[in-house]
Amino acid sequence: MVNIAILGYGTVGSGVVEVLNTNRDSINKRAGQEINIKYVLDLKDFEGDPIQKVIVHDYDVIINDDSVKVIVEVMGGVEPAYTFVKEALLKGKSVVSSNKELVAKHGAELLQIAKDKNINFLFEASVGGGIPIIRPLNQSLTADEIYEITGILNGTTNYILSKMSKEGLAFDSVLKEAQEKGYAERNPAADVEGHDACRKIAILSSLAFGMQVDFEDIYTEGITKITDTDMQYAKYLGLDIKLLATSKKVDQRVYARVAPMMLGSGHPLANVHDVFNAIFVKGNVIGDVMFYGKGAGKLPTASAVVADVVDAAKHLERNIMSFWSTEKMGLMEIKEVPT
Ligand code: HSE
Repeated sequence: MVNIAILGYGTVGSGVVEVLNTNRDSINKRAGQEINIKYVLDLKDFEGDPIQKVIVHDYDVIINDDSVKVIVEVMGGVEPAYTFVKEALLKGKSVVSSNKELVAKHGAELLQIAKDKNINFLFEASVGGGIPIIRPLNQSLTADEIYEITGILNGTTNYILSKMSKEGLAFDSVLKEAQEKGYAERNPAADVEGHDACRKIAILSSLAFGMQVDFEDIYTEGITKITDTDMQYAKYLGLDIKLLATSKKVDQRVYARVAPMMLGSGHPLANVHDVFNAIFVKGNVIGDVMFYGKGAGKLPTASAVVADVVDAAKHLERNIMSFWSTEKMGLMEIKEVPT
């Protein structure tokens, strides 16, 4: 049996519990042992919810329990997540995280600690919700030199743009709907201003190119300036407006940006609607590959988290993640856009 602790019982945390309960038998079989939720850290109590019996309010209880081998961090935000995760790794506990703010800012350091300790820091759910993309970049595509990644990496904005385009709805009402469905961040400005997609393309680029791509350096423009008129013009021209995140490696430099783009309806990314995300990866050997699925939401995200828990439980004393160097990739000026 492997004991785990979940930090945070919000949308994703409760989804993780639900997935572990729903698919208990097959998950335990694949992990080769029972996955036991020993603690859930949350400030609130959950009277009437069976989870109440494992709720704790103090992280010290978890970090000081040597029987806890895997920590699941689904709190979001850089602090206190960074302090908790670093402490856990230094104590020899593997960590699974869905937290893109944390991975984009401190991924290189946390991966290095995990490698030094021969444990794991896994973060499949941090990009693309339920879509497998971190694991493919870390395992299946390692024969390739990846030179370009382009994706729709934010479910909320894709949902908003799809509804505005298809149903002619106003931005604000669709954003409210996306929030109600649990797609949006606590502060939806991170979605609509493009910062969420920016962190995700920074993570994918750093992992694919093996060096630090700082999210602060990536030109980022969101969808708040897109009007009904823009939508109508795009439609009239047979085009679709999508928020695209792009990263291209040229020699030892990277061109990266997040911005709304018009796409012809024949382009595969133009046909990615609603909360779906898609990621195109170009490699020098494999050519083009595309990953597609639900990029946000409780259960898709929890599916990716639980898959990482299974991997962490199977490899308690073996590091399986590549890490990227803290050395920075030079960023190209926007005017130098490679064709
Ligand atoms: N707010 C994010 C999105 C959630 O809409 O894609 C998943 O990271």
